[in-house]
Amino acid sequence: MKKAYLLLLALFLFSCSQPNRSSKEEAEIEGRIRKLISQMTLEEKLGQMSQFDPGQFRGDQDLKQAIKDGKVGSILNLVGAKRINELQKVAVEESRLGIPIIIGRDVIHGFRTIMPIPLGMAAAWNPELTEKAMAVAAKEAASEGVHWTFAPMIDISRDPRWGRIAESCGEDTYLASRLAVAMVKGFQGDDPSNVDRIAACAKHFVGYGAAEGGRDYNTAYIPETQLRNDYLPPFKAAKEAGVLTFMSGFNDLNGVPVSGNEFTLKTILRNEWGFNGMVVSDWASIYEMIAHGYAADPKEAAEKALRAGVDMEMTSNCYVSGVQQLLDEGKLNMQTIDRYVANILRVKFQLGLFEHPYTDETRAEKTILCPEHLEVAKEAASESFVLLQNNHQILPLSSNMKSVAVIGPLADAPHDQMGTWVFDGKKENTVTPLVALRQKLGEQRVNFAKGLAVSRTRTTEGFAEAIQAARKSDVALLFLGEESILSGEAHCLANLDLQGAQNDLLDAVAATGKPVVAVIMAGRPLTIGHVLEKADAVLYAWAPGTMGGPALAEMLLGETVPSGKTPVTFLKTVGEVPLYYNHKNTGRPADYSNWTYLDDIPVEAGQVSLGNTSHYLDAGFEPLFPFGFGLSYTSFAYSDLRLSTGSMPVDGSIDFSVTIENTGKYKGSEVVQLYIRDRVGSITRPVKELKGFKKISLEPGEKQQVTIRLNANDLAFFNGTNYVVEPGWFDVWVGPHSNEGLHAEFSIR
Ligand code: BGC
Repeated sequence: MKKAYLLLLALFLFSCSQPNRSSKEEAEIEGRIRKLISQMTLEEKLGQMSQFDPGQFRGDQDLKQAIKDGKVGSILNLVGAKRINELQKVAVEESRLGIPIIIGRDVIHGFRTIMPIPLGMAAAWNPELTEKAMAVAAKEAASEGVHWTFAPMIDISRDPRWGRIAESCGEDTYLASRLAVAMVKGFQGDDPSNVDRIAACAKHFVGYGAAEGGRDYNTAYIPETQLRNDYLPPFKAAKEAGVLTFMSGFNDLNGVPVSGNEFTLKTILRNEWGFNGMVVSDWASIYEMIAHGYAADPKEAAEKALRAGVDMEMTSNCYVSGVQQLLDEGKLNMQTIDRYVANILRVKFQLGLFEHPYTDETRAEKTILCPEHLEVAKEAASESFVLLQNNHQILPLSSNMKSVAVIGPLADAPHDQMGTWVFDGKKENTVTPLVALRQKLGEQRVNFAKGLAVSRTRTTEGFAEAIQAARKSDVALLFLGEESILSGEAHCLANLDLQGAQNDLLDAVAATGKPVVAVIMAGRPLTIGHVLEKADAVLYAWAPGTMGGPALAEMLLGETVPSGKTPVTFLKTVGEVPLYYNHKNTGRPADYSNWTYLDDIPVEAGQVSLGNTSHYLDAGFEPLFPFGFGLSYTSFAYSDLRLSTGSMPVDGSIDFSVTIENTGKYKGSEVVQLYIRDRVGSITRPVKELKGFKKISLEPGEKQQVTIRLNANDLAFFNGTNYVVEPGWFDVWVGPHSNEGLHAEFSIR
């Protein structure tokens, strides 16, 4: 076994200072916090520790009285600068201590200008653009009085049955970590007290995406090595980027619900990472520890959540009802409560709520859906599209085409196009592909027939019209996929094929003999093998948001060029779950020489005649599309992989450079991806791990040398005892996706 080099613990402990805040200012804030706490009654402290939904009150008077009594620290699901100012005024001017309320909301992928769903945003592989998109969301939300978003959601998701994969950055730890930083920066900026910024919340801490069977809220079993190597790093990255809050999730992790989990919330988040911001529970997740069978009653649930370190309780009232008794019984002391109240007040100070508690009511009108925001939404949508197939270069559509058929349940579905987790976006503001194509081509050249009312429709009565539309057009554009309600929280699926009669509609249209382009809008990677067989081109568009239509029309017509790459492995069939690129090798890795496809197995074949490797007889072992895959209208050639050195010390680095040439006819962007494999470790290592990427843009014929630096530290992993960088040999691949690339090797000494 290689000798393990421990990384200094200091590498994993980070300063908790807010960017741009001097230690003098911080000390002053801490002084004000202490002073306030010294004046607070227990009821007022518990008020700060409680977040309410307005529906929990009997009416406006009841809510205002509770605020006046200092019983409301935070409200969620409330929006509108005027209404929020009205309530804030009660808190600031009529409550005894004048502590402002913090207003939280799920601003997940846009506020009124809706960006692509996070999984789509991840497909852009563009942290700068992601940051820009979240800054737009923050600015719009802030203009309507929101102080705090419950985003980014950075749960590693390797199961497309899970509805919340839509809300995630996909399967990869490194990509999710880069995007976590981008999202935190986008929401909070350098200074979260800026009027255009809001606090971010890293959620759901932790392991939620590993729900058994992809069923929401379900049990997760994640060994500590996997937890630390795969699930925690995006949260750690968010913490380092200065995220002000964390949310503890719903799930049971290794037998302990995460809202009462001392190991994750206390040992890791507070002690190892030094997080001194606020932890909010998920919706009633403290109370739900009773249903989990981890607490007998609300008091015990409060005790466990408080022991673990959840500062604020979302919507349930275990803290309010249980804490006095816990104090009386000596199970809790006031210093603990004071520490939690301090964590909450600190965030309120960091947001500048004490200095400027009110929102300028004239801002929303100038901010919301302004042209610059729509432009960012279009750019984000455009970069999120992944071209999966383009036979005979059918895309982009030729400009001398006389007419196009626009068919399918998602062609003109302004609500569904926005995707899941949209509370403020309005379908009236959404531009669909049908509208955009009509604008670009003129009404005359667009033959529209929905074919199916919605994605789940099973009746085929609309087919005749769709077939007719295809017959009179040069090409059929089919907009298929999922309605927004089919993904998101609690919206899991056991079947990942296109719902309803969509495949039949595709067959009927393809039978006309016209070229077919399928655009798939969905909240997850669906099993679209049939679509690939029947359609000439397939463009995966996720739920592209407000400007999805114009972005798609431009791309179909060749004004923009696809550059998205899959942020998650696409499966052939649901039975392959989980299938992800950075799996372990096993002792008997699959290979073609050892695989006989089901239909080719001789009758009465001998038990060991088929080879014994890790694969499916019916589905093989390769995915439909690997992680990181995506075509372009142009082509890129990779050459000349060079390493600045073939060997680095444990504190060293290597520059990997490669030449990329645009060998096609269009200006296009390519995501250059760097993967490594640690050949031998003190615990087994994945067959590949993404460790770097760069998105570059090249003119036809243009060449560029791209350099990605890797520090030996980037190769650290948790081996069950420690974080280590282990000397030894590594493979490296630089290429267009996880299954292709120029190869070299290097070592750490
Ligand atoms: C979700 C969270 C969300 C919260 C508040 C919960 O059901 O799991 O992600 O932030 O509701 O709406």
